Amino acid sequence: MASPRILLLSALAAVAPAANAQNFGGGARGADDFTYVQPLNTTILSAYGHSPAVYPSPKISGNGGWKDAMAKAQDFVSQLTPEEKADMVTGAAGPCVGNIKRIERLGFNGLCLQDGPLSIRVADYASVFSAGVSAAASWDRKILYERGFAMGEEFKAKGAHVALSPVCGPLGRSAYSGRNWEGFAADPYLTGVAMEETIKGHQDAGVQATPKHFIGNEQETQRNPKFDETGTNVIQEAVSSNIDDRTMHELYLWPFANSVRAKAASIMCSYQRLNGSYGCENSKTLNGLLKGELGFQGYVMSDWGAVHSGVASIESGLDMNMPGGLGSYGMDPTLGSFFGANVTTAVNNGTLDATRLDDMIRRLNTFFKKKDWKAEDWNMTGESSRDVRGNHGDLIRKHGAEATVLLKNVNKALPLKAPKSIAVFGNDAGDITEGFLNQKDYEFGTLAAGGGSGTGRLTYIITPLEAVKARAKKDGALVQQWLNNTLIASSNVTDLWNPTPPEVCIVFLKTWAEEGADRKHLSVDWDGEEIVASVAKDCANTVVVTHSSGINVLPFADHPNVTAILAAHYPGQESGNSIADILYGDVNPSGHLPYTIAFNGTDYNAPPTTQVNTTGIDDWQSWFDEKLEIDYRYFDAHNISVRYEFGFGLSYTTFELADVKVETLDSAITTTPKDEPIQPGGNPALWAPLYNVTVEVSNTGDVDGAAVPQLYVNFPAATTPAGTPPQQLRGFDKVMLKKGEKATVSFELMRRDLSYWDVVSQGWVIPAGEFTLSAGLSSRDFKAQAKVTPIKA
Ligand code: BGC
Repeated sequence: MASPRILLLSALAAVAPAANAQNFGGGARGADDFTYVQPLNTTILSAYGHSPAVYPSPKISGNGGWKDAMAKAQDFVSQLTPEEKADMVTGAAGPCVGNIKRIERLGFNGLCLQDGPLSIRVADYASVFSAGVSAAASWDRKILYERGFAMGEEFKAKGAHVALSPVCGPLGRSAYSGRNWEGFAADPYLTGVAMEETIKGHQDAGVQATPKHFIGNEQETQRNPKFDETGTNVIQEAVSSNIDDRTMHELYLWPFANSVRAKAASIMCSYQRLNGSYGCENSKTLNGLLKGELGFQGYVMSDWGAVHSGVASIESGLDMNMPGGLGSYGMDPTLGSFFGANVTTAVNNGTLDATRLDDMIRRLNTFFKKKDWKAEDWNMTGESSRDVRGNHGDLIRKHGAEATVLLKNVNKALPLKAPKSIAVFGNDAGDITEGFLNQKDYEFGTLAAGGGSGTGRLTYIITPLEAVKARAKKDGALVQQWLNNTLIASSNVTDLWNPTPPEVCIVFLKTWAEEGADRKHLSVDWDGEEIVASVAKDCANTVVVTHSSGINVLPFADHPNVTAILAAHYPGQESGNSIADILYGDVNPSGHLPYTIAFNGTDYNAPPTTQVNTTGIDDWQSWFDEKLEIDYRYFDAHNISVRYEFGFGLSYTTFELADVKVETLDSAITTTPKDEPIQPGGNPALWAPLYNVTVEVSNTGDVDGAAVPQLYVNFPAATTPAGTPPQQLRGFDKVMLKKGEKATVSFELMRRDLSYWDVVSQGWVIPAGEFTLSAGLSSRDFKAQAKVTPIKA
């Protein structure tokens, strides 16, 4: 039965047209389209899939150094009229993706909220940085911070107060999720570090960060409810991500805890349902986990159109409705906002506690008061547009190169040694042919970013072809090019290059992904596999480069003529320069995979629920039955061979690790943490370092290069609950070493790193017994180990 969407109270807010229409493209293509029908599971409803009520919404405490700012914010709140209060929590029309009205009499400049995680999107003369997946592939804290800071500078210079960035939901539960590339890695630890560094970068530059989407936003299909043609009746509710308590803490909440600890100003709640309740009206996750357990001091902002109730959402912890009454997915825009004037009415008639509304506004303003943040006047596009790019092109070039993952390199194919004859193949090599915003899945042109609200508007693009040509010119080389995939696949390539055979063939392939659609397959797009087969049949030195949203199965990896493979992901506007720097060895590759590449698409577990064959309003359920076993945790637990494992990446040199040493930093480690007052990030005792682990890294090859030593933890099996993954990343570093040089790197293990979430005691527990700490160059290439026993069994 359809349920009408009823505004909680009668008053309707005025409706204005959406400030910025979004431009979302079509889906990925492929013959082997992937669909998965999720069986309806009614029997396990009682075990999980249920969201308990947690009320009232915790008020901001000022903990974490915000008490003075909070008092100033309170002073500001007390000067607002009821109507102004409603305006402060409700989006309005304006020049930005999200807008809060100015209150001139109090000198409040309003708020300008802009996407997104790799660029300030609805603006011109701004840079397109590398995507989250690329930034994560750098495994480099400095780059993560530097990128976050440079992006923040551009938001600030354009006059945006709030950056709708960074992303840790999706985390990457499924290889097929359409937005994984906006986030970082299919691992909570690496993603957690990436979130912290990016948030600090954004906020140090003077713009508020908005980690998103909270929480369990692991697929695009049915992320919103389906409405009938009137736009008021729901036919089927959005998919519900049903996540058990332990998995929630150890996977999906983990990077949000890092984000809160980094003092993110805002957090965006997600579209889909979580254990049955919508992400933006889920009192367990917003009041309980985020504001309660993690001590979040900022404000919860809705995703665009993710609000489905007024007072109910507010009481569940939602602080701001975006974009207000300006339209949402499938809903009738004439209905206006669930907030706006309804909020005033609700307070006036006693339905909503006035102190809750004040808390919403205090949360929003405390950050302004603390930082004394002032933004430039809004200036996004048009004749007077400010150019905010500065020298960021140089950074983006470096970030792209440092994030490129060398997957295969035989016969020292790379770096290129001044070849005199080069053939470039593939529709990803050349110039963009269909515009600079949202490159969609068009046929010709290199892919530097994915699509949807997380994309950027390029001001220029350096293509791989032009960068290779520029570099080859220095060697007086001849460069031939074939960019038409249909032609390449159907040709005998020896006929194409006759009479000048190339010394090296470089094939550029692309894979599109975007918001609003999950990937249908994990192959490269545009018949990329056939292109490689056609070229490699006759070119004994075939180098393959992928520009991709993430996971691609690479069936050609075993081909003897495919001598090198580089995964370059979405590197941003300097794409060509970044890849030429790697191909020619000006930069030694040091990127590592932030996910696993399996042999086949069907090897991956946890597919998105893309089809529900029943029509019940509540039938879209996605059961996260794999629990902690996502990506390498799954492949390891089931001993499944993979092509390239999580953390893998080659270099033009070689590295060794040896001599793991452990220094104990706490001489009386207890099973559970001390109950300390909650600070942003949760109980501070969880973040206390217990061990310092050091390992010696040496460059054993003949060129300089950067190593990425990684530390994995194996929990004591007898005392840790079933389902604990065999190995979990708990430390990494990136270290530049001259050839022959050695260095000692250290990893601090915090209490959280050695704990599991105990569902009975509702707390983090260090199990008794011996942990194995493995230092390696990937999740399956361990070089040295040590054991620790924090608690005697
Ligand atoms: C996306 C958000 C984005 C918002 C505003 C939504 O569709 O899910 O990530 O920030 O639109 O563009």
